Amino acid sequence: MNPALTQFGDRMSHLTGVRAIMKDIKETLQAGAGQEFINLSPGNPVILPEVEQLWRDCTKELLDSSEYGKVVCRYGDSQGYEPLIEAIATDFNRRYGLNLTNRNILITPGSQSLYFYAANAFGGYTTTGELKQIVLPLSPDYTGYGGVTLVPQALLAYKPTLDIDAAAHRFKYRPDFSQLEVNESTGCVLFSRPCNPTGNVLTDEEVRKIADLAANYDVPVLIDSAYGPPFPALNFTEMTPIFGDNIIHCMSLSKAGLPGERIGIAIGSESAIQVVESFQTNMCIHSSRYGQAIATRAIASGMLANISETVIRPYYQKKFDVVENTLEQAMPKDLPWFLHRGEGAIFAWLWLENLPMTDWELYQQLKKVGVIVVPGSSFFPGLREDWQHKNECIRISLTATDEDIEVGMQRLAKVVQEVYSVVSA
Ligand SMILES: Cc1ncc(COP(=O)(O)O)c(C=O)c1O
Repeated sequence: MNPALTQFGDRMSHLTGVRAIMKDIKETLQAGAGQEFINLSPGNPVILPEVEQLWRDCTKELLDSSEYGKVVCRYGDSQGYEPLIEAIATDFNRRYGLNLTNRNILITPGSQSLYFYAANAFGGYTTTGELKQIVLPLSPDYTGYGGVTLVPQALLAYKPTLDIDAAAHRFKYRPDFSQLEVNESTGCVLFSRPCNPTGNVLTDEEVRKIADLAANYDVPVLIDSAYGPPFPALNFTEMTPIFGDNIIHCMSLSKAGLPGERIGIAIGSESAIQVVESFQTNMCIHSSRYGQAIATRAIASGMLANISETVIRPYYQKKFDVVENTLEQAMPKDLPWFLHRGEGAIFAWLWLENLPMTDWELYQQLKKVGVIVVPGSSFFPGLREDWQHKNECIRISLTATDEDIEVGMQRLAKVVQEVYSVVSA
C-alpha cells in the first residue's frame, strides 16, 4: 500500500538530523562483522549501577504498595500523576524559593514531545495566516529541534559568536545579541542548557537577556534543561536554573537513568501550561503512569537529586577530562583544533578550523580506523546561512569507557594530522 501523504504526513515520515546518521551508524556496526568499532556516537546514557538500583528500589516500593492498581489499571489526569506534580512543586519551591502550585507543572511522555507541542502551539501559522517563528538563539543546538515543527520554515536559528582561546585550543559559543531578533513574528524561543551537542552552558546573564527580549513581545522561552540541575545535574560549571513568567522550564528524566519510561516535565505559567496540556490531551491523553509513580518516589525522597550530584555528574565529568587530556597529548599543537569548553551534558564538541574536507568525509575516514563519531553538520537545525564552520565540527560521546575514549582520541588525532598534511604537502 502506498497511500498519498499530506504535507504533515510527508514531513513527519522523514527522519531529520542525527536520526538519519544514526541509521548509517547502525548499518556500519551491523555490516562490520569482525571489525571492532569504538563507538563515540551514542546519546543513550550509560547504565550506572547506583542509578539502576534506585529505579529498581522505587519500582519494588511501587509494586509492594496498594497504589499499584490505581497507577497502572486506571487512566489519569492529562496534566500528570498528582503525587509526582506535588513532589516536583515541593522540591522546586524549597530548592529555588518558588511559589509553584500544581497548575504550573505538566508531565509529558519524554521532553521531545513537549517541544513538539510547544513548537506547534506557538510556532507556525496563526489563525490569521501570519508565520510565527521558533527562534533558536544559539546554533548549533539539539538536532531534535529540526523535527519538532510541522512547518519547517518556522524554524530560525542564529549564528553565534565564537570566544576563542587559540593558545589553549579551546573555544565557547556565545549568543550574538547584535544579530538576535525577537519580535512580533516570534512564536517562541528554544535552547538547551547545558547544550547537546556542544556542552555549552549559557550564562545566567545571557539567559535573562534572552528572556527579557522575549518578554517584550509576550513570547514564551523554552529552556531545555535535559542535562540541567537538580537532576540529572550534568552541569560541570555553576549554573542557576532561571524561572520567570514567560519561561517554560523543561526537564527530562532520560539522562537521570529513565529514558525508557519517557518522562518530561514542564514548569511555567498556568496559561502556557494549559496550552501544552490541551495539546497533550488531544495527542495521547497522558504520559505513562508507571514511570511517573516511580519518579515520584525518587524525587520526593531527594534520592534522585543526590545520585545526580554524587554519581551521574562525576561520571561524565571524568569522561570529559579523559577526552581533554588525550587530545591535549595527541593532537598536534600547530593545527587549528578547538575543543568546546566542557561545561555540561554528555558530549564533547571538537571544531577543526579550515578542515580540508567536510565533517561527513572526516566521519567516513574515522570509520576506516574503527572510530565512530557524529558529524557536526546535523546540529544546526534552522540555520539558513552558509557557514563553513557547520562542516568543521564533530560530536564525541562521553558514554564510552575511558580506554575507548583514549584510543579513539589517539586515532582521531592521527587521522586529523594526515588530513591536514595532505593539503600542506
Ligand atoms: C537537549 C535534549 N533535549 C531533549 C532531548 C529529548 O529527551 P527525552 O525526550 O528523552 O526527554 C534530548 C535527548 O537526547 C536532548 O539531548
